[in-house]
Amino acid sequence: GARLDMKILAARAHVTLEAIERVIDPGELDPLTGNAVPRHAGADVILRADRILALDAYGDCAPSGRFVLVKDYAIVGGGLISMEGYPDQRGLVTVRATNIKRELPRVSTEERTQRNGHKGGVLWLTGLSGSGKSTLALELERRLFARGYLVYVLDGDNLRFGLNADLGFSPEERTENIRRAGEVAALFAAAGFVVITAFISPYRSDRARVRRAVGQAFHEIYLNADIAICEERDPKGLYKRARAGEIADFTGISAPYEAPEAAELQIDTGSLDVEESLNLLLEYVIPRFALRGK
Ligand code: ADX
Repeated sequence: GARLDMKILAARAHVTLEAIERVIDPGELDPLTGNAVPRHAGADVILRADRILALDAYGDCAPSGRFVLVKDYAIVGGGLISMEGYPDQRGLVTVRATNIKRELPRVSTEERTQRNGHKGGVLWLTGLSGSGKSTLALELERRLFARGYLVYVLDGDNLRFGLNADLGFSPEERTENIRRAGEVAALFAAAGFVVITAFISPYRSDRARVRRAVGQAFHEIYLNADIAICEERDPKGLYKRARAGEIADFTGISAPYEAPEAAELQIDTGSLDVEESLNLLLEYVIPRFALRGK
């Protein structure tokens, strides 16, 4: 949680110490325990910057792959960058095309809302594999459809057969998966639909990008089930295969999952059953998508 300044190349950026993964005694080269890095010790840490920074992995380019950490004008540490497990985001910063301009719609959001009888928006379910995203998305769709809603589910596994058939599970491919799914969700929402999505979407920065694409109508819903419970349920048998080393980069085992910090709704799907979880979802959705909802 410590807030520090990072100096890298000519830039200075605010960073937060998100996690200390491993502390190493420099003399013994033995791992230490504890949640602090003692003076002169080394550590694997995760730092989160408040904006995209120009940097390299130390192994690719040493001069732009190291940094110093500053607190109150004093240097408190130095580091080498590894981006293992995290996506290269440089392709996401700039719009490639030039000579393009936005056309304005002639059907307003308000007109669509009036005709459909409810607002459009995105219910973005995020959580580990086995946390219940697909089950709850499909059942919520069924219930809302029965009540007359324009509603549609975008599911990770399903999209990976078509729109995202060219993507695997590397950090960059997951980021692209979420970028495309998020843009599609934003279009459906603009068309007036209640879109329910079921993607692991493990990176906070990817979910934040979707939030920006959708705007106010974005609702992040964290299905908070412990990895131990997901692994025990293992509905698709994938955790077992990941543990056996048959699936690389598996979320929660050998690839990161960054839990939301401020989701609009959090459901403890580790202890609640499907019916209880659905009730919480319906209670959340109905007033917020009503013609004159909050
Ligand atoms: S995401 O990380 O890019 O958001 P997405 O939700 O589309 O993932 O797909 C996750 C689904 O793919 C899981 O439910 C699981 O069935 C399958 N899958 C296959 N390989 C992996 C993997 N390495 N990590 C996570 N899920 C995987």
